[in-house]
Amino acid sequence: MKLAILSGKGGVGKTLLSINLSVVLAQEGYKVLLVDANFSAPTVATYFKTVPNTHTLDEALSKGAVNPSELVWIHPSGVHFITPSFNMVGLDDTTLQSIFTILTPLFPSYDFVILDGPAGVEKDVYYTVAHSDGAVIVTNPNYPALYNALKVNYFVQAMRKPVIGAVLNMVTGKDEVTREEAQSIVEVPIIGEIPYDEEVKKAVNVGQPVVLYNPNAKASKAIYQITESLLGKKLTKARAQGGGESILQKIIRWLLG
Ligand SMILES: Nc1ncnc2c1ncn2[C@@H]1O[C@H](COP(=O)(O)OP(=O)(O)OP(=O)(O)O)[C@@H](O)[C@H]1O
Ligand SMILES: [Mg+2]
Repeated sequence: MKLAILSGKGGVGKTLLSINLSVVLAQEGYKVLLVDANFSAPTVATYFKTVPNTHTLDEALSKGAVNPSELVWIHPSGVHFITPSFNMVGLDDTTLQSIFTILTPLFPSYDFVILDGPAGVEKDVYYTVAHSDGAVIVTNPNYPALYNALKVNYFVQAMRKPVIGAVLNMVTGKDEVTREEAQSIVEVPIIGEIPYDEEVKKAVNVGQPVVLYNPNAKASKAIYQITESLLGKKLTKARAQGGGESILQKIIRWLLG
């Protein structure tokens, strides 16, 4: 299953979802490849506290022939990931085609390929969607984000790919669009709501996915639930539903601040 994580507006939480969904799927025993398909503004590696100067997509492009497995980075969670460096510029059709020519031979070895896409509906999104089996759209519960999410929904549908659902992120429950209204605007089922959660910020600051940093955080619990919705079944191995954090984990979390 190759899943594109998209949004209309930037900064709504695509990478938060992509990373944590990937980690939960890996915890559950699936082989997961996370691709930072936000080629011109990559963030996956930095969320993992890595600054990639080598084994990057643009290095592969400049070398021409490359064994794609050399591009695979392995996070301690078991998630495999691929990233551009911060030098990737000039995303024309030839470059985008070449990127996916490099990547696609890797895809069949994985149960899940998560494509952390760019915001909007430009050419790079087109290529990401074209190489996916379907999309999840992330949005915040406000009108600008929701109407641009609708635009992405139409874009994906025009490419004859399914939109599996939308995720509301940074939900505060105060002075914002309700889940029902959000669903009627984006015209796809809302498959989960991630609350605004300071634990997300803390996790980013220490370079850890929030589901590892604090599996009991409200945001983590929401991501477990979203993974279950996507899988269509309960998690059995991943830390589902925030059950009992060990004392050692509590101490580590406290020390990390
Ligand atoms: N639920 C949340 N609670 C608190 N902060 C959050 C939450 N979700 C995301 N953030 C913060 O918002 C910022 C943007 O999140 P993220 O990078 O996932 O968005 P994005 O959609 O991938 O952005 P871009 O369009 O730039 O790729 C990050 O600093 C992240 O830590
Ligand atoms: Mg992002």
